[in-house]
Amino acid sequence: MKNLQKVTIIGLGYVGFPLACAIAKNNNYEVYGLDTNKERVDKINMRISPVEDRQAEKDIKEVIIYATTEEEVLKKSKFIIVCVPTPIDEERRPDLTPVIQAAESISRNLQKGQIIILESTVNPGVCEETILPILERGNFRGGIDFELIHCPERIDPGNPNWNVYNINRNIGGLTKQGTHIAANFYRSFLKGDINEMSSLKVAESTKIVENAFRDVNIAYVNELAQSFDKLGIDVYEVINGASNKPFAFMPHYPGCGVGGHCIAVDPYYLIEYAAKNGFDHQLLKVARSVNNSMPHYTVQKLVDGLESIGVNIKGAKIGLLGLSYKANIGDMRESPALEIKKELEDLGAIVLCCDPYCNGHAPALINEILENCIGLILATNHHQFMEVKNWKNVKIIVDGRNCLDMPNIESQGIIYEGIGRGFPNTPNGKIVNEI
Ligand SMILES: NC(=O)c1ccc[n+]([C@@H]2O[C@H](COP(=O)([O-])OP(=O)(O)OC[C@H]3O[C@@H](n4cnc5c(N)ncnc54)[C@H](O)[C@@H]3O)[C@@H](O)[C@H]2O)c1
Repeated sequence: MKNLQKVTIIGLGYVGFPLACAIAKNNNYEVYGLDTNKERVDKINMRISPVEDRQAEKDIKEVIIYATTEEEVLKKSKFIIVCVPTPIDEERRPDLTPVIQAAESISRNLQKGQIIILESTVNPGVCEETILPILERGNFRGGIDFELIHCPERIDPGNPNWNVYNINRNIGGLTKQGTHIAANFYRSFLKGDINEMSSLKVAESTKIVENAFRDVNIAYVNELAQSFDKLGIDVYEVINGASNKPFAFMPHYPGCGVGGHCIAVDPYYLIEYAAKNGFDHQLLKVARSVNNSMPHYTVQKLVDGLESIGVNIKGAKIGLLGLSYKANIGDMRESPALEIKKELEDLGAIVLCCDPYCNGHAPALINEILENCIGLILATNHHQFMEVKNWKNVKIIVDGRNCLDMPNIESQGIIYEGIGRGFPNTPNGKIVNEI
């Protein structure tokens, strides 16, 4: 019988589970999953995907992943890949607790010759300054007895074109030799390019830089939207005009806020680490603050619109379309819709939420909203909302994703407000926000 190489993934969520499936599809590996969430473990063992991911939902029917909550499973693996969350706390400070706990599990079970790979997004320095000392608590030394690698994940849940299989990867390690072994491991089951980098720190930095780049660019257009609303200039026409420059311009679009576990979170990791090392990332901090201000800006548009027709937000029935942070998935982490909901409720509105992907949290039906609400905010551009043609009894719509058919809405005598689309004569319906 063929001697299969054993791999354990720690953290079987949006990142870890599709990865586990991708590795298990290669007949050379036997794949184990370690997770503290018993419900997820049970689901996987019943061959049900614990996350919404079309490819992984299909893959789990074709492969076997041995999922468990018992950390001893780590002992028998050649490769251990850590995919646990890297959240921020209530004060928006990096929280490395899951990474530290995963490192402690590995440390308690560490074997000579193991290759430990971190895929979670972290600031530069985490592998060498936080994880390595934990792994070296026993007698084994990194780069001699085991290898430590960082291979940040770039998966974009819900993206029909890019998935775990075809996205290129960057990889850095404690040693050149370890990096090369890990790179070949990834090459054995992925189709994307695997770029071997010179160190752990450059690999860690690359991922944070990618996400901070997006945050800064989105903040730029969100600021432009607020300015151009006042100037009476359609920011969409401007962005689309700038986009026909064949080089050096990359369109980003404004919206009611930035959410998710990556863009709204990762910049804080770099901000804090740089601050500890004597550098103040002013631009990143401003970008975060502009993007964090967008839910309030969106709610204010509704409040002003209602006032213009003599209605007070207090006691008004308001529909909220979408709770998840992006279209056609149910992930609500850091979603600006949750901020919008809270602010509306704080103002005394009666909020009815509809999200076909987050049913338990948003039970209202779209029809119920269209019949009973005087105003609504679209916070997520789920395709179901873009298919609505008759807006029934609604008097004002704030389109937080600039995705609705403005002329159709206005032809029904309804006030339409987008983000940065102040002028009546704007292109509409086709432009979908970046997030
Ligand atoms: N979701 C994305 O789109 C995405 C994309 C690229 C990178 N990332 C990064 O990947 C990492 C994981 O994100 P995710 O979205 O998959 O998170 P997730 O919350 O979907 O999954 C993480 C899993 O880890 C488990 N876990 C937590 N602590 C554990 C521990 N000590 N031991 C074992 N299991 C543990 C949780 O129970 C959960 O099942 C984060 O650093 C994130 O920034 C996420």
